[in-house]
Amino acid sequence: MNISRRDFLRSLDVGSAAGIAVQWPLASTPRADRFEPSRSSREPGLILLYSNENAYGPSPKVVESIKSSVNGVNRYPRMEYQALVELIAGLHHVKPDQVLLGCGSTEILRMAAFTFLGNGKQLIHASPTFEAIEHYAHAVGSEVIPVRLTRDYAHDLDGMLGRAGSASTLVYICNPNNPTASLTPRKDLETFISKLAASTFVVIDEAYHHYVGGSGMYASFIDRPLGDERVIVARTFSKVYGLAGLRLGYAVASPKIIQQMRGFATQDNINAVVTRVAEAALDDSDAVYDFVQRNSNDRQEFFNHAMGRALKPIDSHANFVMMNTFHPAQEMIEHFQRNNILIGRHFPPMDTYIRVSLGRPEEMQAFWTAWDKLPYPKSSMQH
Ligand SMILES: Cc1ncc(COP(=O)(O)O)c(C=O)c1O
Repeated sequence: MNISRRDFLRSLDVGSAAGIAVQWPLASTPRADRFEPSRSSREPGLILLYSNENAYGPSPKVVESIKSSVNGVNRYPRMEYQALVELIAGLHHVKPDQVLLGCGSTEILRMAAFTFLGNGKQLIHASPTFEAIEHYAHAVGSEVIPVRLTRDYAHDLDGMLGRAGSASTLVYICNPNNPTASLTPRKDLETFISKLAASTFVVIDEAYHHYVGGSGMYASFIDRPLGDERVIVARTFSKVYGLAGLRLGYAVASPKIIQQMRGFATQDNINAVVTRVAEAALDDSDAVYDFVQRNSNDRQEFFNHAMGRALKPIDSHANFVMMNTFHPAQEMIEHFQRNNILIGRHFPPMDTYIRVSLGRPEEMQAFWTAWDKLPYPKSSMQH
């Protein structure tokens, strides 16, 4: 049968022809625009200090690889998928069946929620922490139990243990934690995991792993595995590798757990460009080193500026900084927006804290210039 181009195009428009409006249930849909300010990041002159991206990345070698990877995007990247799994497995000295790729580590978190949660089960997480998994837990009908961070901004592991009943099937640990950039000591995590019920799984989100540096409090659960089947580690290419827009994350866990989680992966979830580019990103270790160095200089510079104003940010082990302003976070966010700067969202219950992602020096200069225009007496913003 011949079909005209016009009929063909009309045939694609099934939903609107039938008057069907497809709607997502808002309460259960984690969407980036519910996490971040509504202004478009493409507005010219806007300074983006709000999503903890790598302000410098990706590296020139990776940019070259992106350009050359465009050839071939007419094909599904199925063979490349396996090659990338093997590459990541080799990097971490694990078997390929211990690695699962995700469309960003957000998809890893979603798969974990779908695998381990559901009606009658519970998610325990810190408050505040990165919220994606909490939204997915709600989406699958789980109860969500937030446990406030300690006074040192570590996970309150005793508090979490106290809330972990027999239905507690998943604990989310973000280390370093977003939004506080703080660490929970490795030895405390080991004790905590050893006390959890055998049926409770733990996702350890190491999105900011590279920025930690040499802290003796920290060791990655990929680099120093516990050999415990209940531990799932999530990593991302969105931070130090500078590839947030290309969407790639992964999990490392036991073969059995990876197989269970894979059942909830979107089919063909990894795009053809990033399957090739990831190799260039992993190869370019000089660039990773350079990004980490720049971040530590930028972080130090941030603290110098803050201390010069008698402010005391939380000690940061990541590429962002959180600090108490002693004024409503929302007012601060709006002040910076008026100055064309987007900073992190409001993170209840830390209602007077702001989270600032580290940008390039000139962007941070603009941040401090805007800071100095705040309409509050300086003494009201200090300890
Ligand atoms: C702790 C943490 N985990 C996961 C993510 C999601 O990263 P992506 O989906 O880009 O890999 C983020 C993003 O900011 C994050 O802060």
